[in-house]
Amino acid sequence: MYVIKVLNKEYLERRDGEGIEEISPDEALAEAIENGLIVDARQIIGEGKEAFVCWGIDNLERLVAVKTYKLYKTTHRGVIHSTHRTNPYVMISQFAKLEYYKNLDLFQSKLPVPQPYKYAGFSYSMQLIGDEDGPAPLLRDLNKTFFRNPADILEQCIDILYEMFQAHYVHGDFSEHNLIWHEDQVFLIDFLQAKNFALKDAVTYGSPLIPISRAYRILRKDLNSILPFFKRQYRIEVDYNEVLDYILGEIKEKVHRELELNLETSS
Ligand SMILES: Nc1ncnc2c1ncn2[C@@H]1O[C@H](COP(=O)(O)OP(=O)(O)OP(=O)(O)O)[C@@H](O)[C@H]1O
Ligand SMILES: [Mg+2]
Repeated sequence: MYVIKVLNKEYLERRDGEGIEEISPDEALAEAIENGLIVDARQIIGEGKEAFVCWGIDNLERLVAVKTYKLYKTTHRGVIHSTHRTNPYVMISQFAKLEYYKNLDLFQSKLPVPQPYKYAGFSYSMQLIGDEDGPAPLLRDLNKTFFRNPADILEQCIDILYEMFQAHYVHGDFSEHNLIWHEDQVFLIDFLQAKNFALKDAVTYGSPLIPISRAYRILRKDLNSILPFFKRQYRIEVDYNEVLDYILGEIKEKVHRELELNLETSS
């Protein structure tokens, strides 16, 4: 039913000189069960290009969401420094681990994100945002009249961006597709592409931190995704630069210093 295609299979076969087995969601789920991430799988709730997510119950009877990576796709290349030649199975288990730790960092910084529980194999488990009936809806799934005061929801989104930036993180895919509405609160999910940034541009080669001016560009892109959504869906318009300034907060001077330095060096 859920067939996972490996787009660059031929390339990988040529490179590795061995066949690449596709993993079906059932097999991956069996692996997640074996690894103790989940004991009772209820339903697959999301299947995108890179991963699928299933919800169920774990051995502590918690409601869990388990995210399992699909085999290596070209879009993943370069996500992890110098992993281009890594075996695709190793690579997706790295993704599961990487996303787990980014999720953990944000959870420990008190952001409204699911609590991450465990990682193993190609999967990681986290708190299900939802209840016994399943996951709560994404912002994209709510209709135009759902909120009595949608400006409050936008405010929550901006506050998440602020808290995240102050924790030296940018999300990189901050949109109605990755925001869940649950118990009067917006929750953020999907962290593989999230980046931890340095407070300067000079980062050493191979550093896990990205330069601050790159983080600034990612933040601008995220704002350019969420603000138009609120305008389209709820007719709420806010001043882009004012919101950007607010999110930058105390870090604003550092960003501006680097941007000025970049200008000087390129002129
Ligand atoms: N902790 C969670 N609680 C509830 N639902 C979740 C949770 N994590 C993920 N989901 C659901 O699973 C879907 C896919 O998760 P996620 O966004 O992390 O993966 P993705 O690789 O971006 O997949 P897609 O391309 O389908 O968005 C989400 O859109 C959401 O509906
Ligand atoms: Mg997503």
